[in-house]
Amino acid sequence: MPTISIKGKNMPESPIRKLVPYAENAKKRGIEVFHLNIGQPDIKTPEVALNAVKNNTLKVLEYSRSEGSETYRQKIANYYETYNIKVQATDIIVTTGGSEALLFAIGSITDPGDEIIIPEPFYANYNGFSTASSVTIVPVISKIENNFALPPISEFEKLITPKTKAILICNPNNPTGYLYSREEIEKLAEIVKKHDLFLIADEVYREFVYDNVQHQSVLNNFGLDNYAIVIDSVSKRYSMCGARIGCIVSKNKEVISTALKFAQARLSPPTYAQIASEAALETPQSYFDEVSVEYKKRRDLLIEELSKIEGVKVANPRGAFYCVAELPVDNADKFAQWLLEDFNLNNQTVMVAPAAGFYSTPGIGTNQVRIAYVLKTADLIQSVAILKAALIKYNSL
Ligand SMILES: Cc1ncc(COP(=O)(O)O)c(C=O)c1O
Repeated sequence: MPTISIKGKNMPESPIRKLVPYAENAKKRGIEVFHLNIGQPDIKTPEVALNAVKNNTLKVLEYSRSEGSETYRQKIANYYETYNIKVQATDIIVTTGGSEALLFAIGSITDPGDEIIIPEPFYANYNGFSTASSVTIVPVISKIENNFALPPISEFEKLITPKTKAILICNPNNPTGYLYSREEIEKLAEIVKKHDLFLIADEVYREFVYDNVQHQSVLNNFGLDNYAIVIDSVSKRYSMCGARIGCIVSKNKEVISTALKFAQARLSPPTYAQIASEAALETPQSYFDEVSVEYKKRRDLLIEELSKIEGVKVANPRGAFYCVAELPVDNADKFAQWLLEDFNLNNQTVMVAPAAGFYSTPGIGTNQVRIAYVLKTADLIQSVAILKAALIKYNSL
């Protein structure tokens, strides 16, 4: 019998998707499940993007260039200019989602056994991408008590070894919604320059910031041209998760020429989706204004309602569309499964993502869940009411 690789065996299951069979069974039993577990927005994709594909008269669905279509890359560079991020089309490689951008970035700068420092909790798939590249994640712990702010820089310095190749941040953060301040990025800039590390910033939620705070990109005048690698995606920005388009951006020519070799090996990003993504750049500002108002409304409501539940602790997110909540349960994994298997309130229940999968340190976050506020407000209110009733019942069993 041929055997599977150790790497394959170590590849983690998605903590977000592993409860899906239980949700499917609940639905088969006639129970309505509110999905607070995944980052699939219910917001409409801009019509300009959909129409660009609908009205297209392509005769042959060809490969594009490995680095992405020329016109699209130029327009992405123009888009960054509006955020005071000064890059050329040649600093950008179009990828199959932010996911592939992460794989290319990690593949381009690490060797097996190298280490990447990541503030935890972090986007769970960083575990998978690191395993795929035989890289070790070294977590630096951010705490719910501090609203998941960046830990002191001394905590990072303690963790740097000769094997450390990069610090990876997600800004705004999935799962915590934390938004890094200018001072925090300055501190990170100092440390990566001092120790010759890359600073990878996953900025796929750049547009989703609230409270009139400005997003700080690592490519905004921090003197990080040789150090910064930005991961980006159209998935959330335009509610185009199924397009599978993202990009990797760096002013470091060697990073881009190396990532290009990875891009050449997979030939090209999807052609139709690039057409849609290029058109999406014409989306009027009013679309983003409306989306931002909607998410802010949802966030305010969710945090207010969750805070009313006895025993629930919740950090206040300032960006993205997630929050991490600590629940009065011993094991959020078991509780999330119980919600789907054994509980309903008038034939309705909720699905949440247990937060332990967003940590790489075993035993941390076991009583936390990530909640995505991707549902309309009426459904969110109902979901929190269900969660409250469920917690009372669960704790009386
Ligand atoms: C923080 C973060 N980075 C990257 C991705 C990857 O997104 P995609 O591959 O759809 O662009 C996601 C998706 O949820 C995410 O939340």
